[in-house]
Amino acid sequence: MSIERTLSIIKPDAVSAGKAGAILQHFEDKGLRVVASRKMTLSRSQALAFYAVHKERPFYESLVEFMTEGPVFVSVLEADSAVSYHREVMGATNPSDASDGTVRALYGSSIERNACHGSDSLENAQIEIGFFFSGAELLA
Ligand code: CMP
Repeated sequence: MSIERTLSIIKPDAVSAGKAGAILQHFEDKGLRVVASRKMTLSRSQALAFYAVHKERPFYESLVEFMTEGPVFVSVLEADSAVSYHREVMGATNPSDASDGTVRALYGSSIERNACHGSDSLENAQIEIGFFFSGAELLA
């Protein structure tokens, strides 16, 4: 195992439901250290670019609409094997498939409105962290 950083987004469904604090606490309680965090509302161009990997998928436009409907919390989380561990703590993409006690099982309501996003590889974590945070914000 080695210390990694991953990009986490608490999505608009969870923020508007007042669950951002509980979810960040959940991550901390599971040993994911918050290196940096920011509340922001994604612009359409930011959401299109962030999810560009999905641009051929039928849900792309709907996902972009959802991700721009209200504020999100973008965070950099750190732990041993943070990328895979954070995904384990979030649970399966579809909340109905997510294990009991995971963030998506607790707070998600559909495969799209699934409360949180996490990087899916170390390479993508580095790209996604750089998308939202500058070097000076990542010194903590
Ligand atoms: P996320 O981890 O943010 O990565 C891409 C997102 O696309 C995913 O979580 C879901 O919110 C969404 N997504 C993935 N598959 C589907 C699907 N079949 N229908 C609608 N949204 C989806």
